[in-house]
Amino acid sequence: MDRLRIKGKCRLEGRLRVGGAKNAALPAMAACLLTDQPVALENVPEVRDIGTMGRLLSHLQVKVEHPGTRSWRLEALDVPEPEAPYDLVKRMRASVLCLGPLVARFGRARVSLPGGCAIGARPIDMHIAGLRRLGVEIRLEHGYVEARCAHLRGAQFPFPGVSVTGPENLMMAATLARGETVLRNCAAEPEVSDLADLLRRMGAHIEGDGSDVIHIQGVEQLGGAEHSILPDRIVAGTFLMAGAITGGRVGVEGCRPADLISTTDLLERCGCRIERAENSLLLEAQEPLQAHDVRTAPHPGFPTDLQAQYMALMTQARGSAIITETIFENRFMHVAELQRMGADIRVTGRHAVVRGPTPLEGTKLMATDLRASASLVLAGLAASGETWVDRVYHIDRGYESIEGTLAGLGAAIERLPGPPYPSA
Ligand code: EPZ
Repeated sequence: MDRLRIKGKCRLEGRLRVGGAKNAALPAMAACLLTDQPVALENVPEVRDIGTMGRLLSHLQVKVEHPGTRSWRLEALDVPEPEAPYDLVKRMRASVLCLGPLVARFGRARVSLPGGCAIGARPIDMHIAGLRRLGVEIRLEHGYVEARCAHLRGAQFPFPGVSVTGPENLMMAATLARGETVLRNCAAEPEVSDLADLLRRMGAHIEGDGSDVIHIQGVEQLGGAEHSILPDRIVAGTFLMAGAITGGRVGVEGCRPADLISTTDLLERCGCRIERAENSLLLEAQEPLQAHDVRTAPHPGFPTDLQAQYMALMTQARGSAIITETIFENRFMHVAELQRMGADIRVTGRHAVVRGPTPLEGTKLMATDLRASASLVLAGLAASGETWVDRVYHIDRGYESIEGTLAGLGAAIERLPGPPYPSA
């Protein structure tokens, strides 16, 4: 397993171009199952999770082509055995996004339950309840979801809780249902709307995405489409915070500032200067950083996927910040590692109180999940001495060569080969 070696302290200066959003590309890839026509996707990030989804689709006999960097061409002519096996689903929860499309198009699906992960139990009960409302007969057997339905029928389904992949799964299934489906209490994340844009290009009739109520009029069949994935707001936010924690000046090109308003507003309240243009953001850190409380929330609130990175930043801010994680029950895995570097953080339930500024000392760290790993890298940039981050495959799930991007901004960071990745 590769590891990163970071020599802090450093000051980042420069510009980077952000790639496509992993969390939009994954449902977009699953959407190819809804049609026997080719779906061509551009601006797909070159990250591990995308490769995992590609392997899952190949397992389903989809014709998967990766003709060039960030380009994929997917053709689901037929899926003789619509089954997503545990050894693939356990690596990536987003594999459950195949469930809705498979049962909607082929009338049956067998998808492994994802199991928990580092940040929480992450059940899919809402996905299942919604599909049942659309007429799908679902049995849970031996850790698998067994789904059967000759033809889905449109229905009303209010989500009991706020989920992102829940509405994405049901929206895809509903495109081929008979009649109208109304999904309520949906997440308004930009990635949901990006998927809806692709589905409309494929011939689906969808309205309301981006709000909490989505209307889908079912159609007989969908066609192929070409689609470019929207920019990754989480990667953009991560590198803005890397600029902030190093007292630097970082510009992010090719992003959508409107998708990051809660994050850039918060960074401005912390004392950073932010310049906004149509497709770019520039952050200039101003000394000293001021601590500010934050609560994670569904979009357009502050994203849970930037909580760990913000916590690292708050270790260098003046004052104390209360960080409240409202989405996942166990998303403070980065705290213990930050404490080992000298951070003053106290956790009570869903709240973490960070007092700063505290000098961080480089040491050996272990990544536990994707965004916690990014948080440790940011801390290493601000720490004195050398920081080693192990199990970098967690980071590679959602960031294209994080060390290459940071080195391009002036960081002293390198990837050192370790034993081979666990079989993926
Ligand atoms: C998506 O996960 C993202 N992943 C996550 O990003 C992100 O953190 C999360 O949304 C929240 O914004 C993708 O889009 C591929 P949820 P998702 O369904 O949809 C509970 C990253 O770092 N829940 O929104 O799987 C669940 O336990 C990843 O890129 C149920 O109880 O998350 C959690 O507490 C991490 N039952 C909360 O809802 C369900 O059926 C949010 O889960 C579904 C969810």
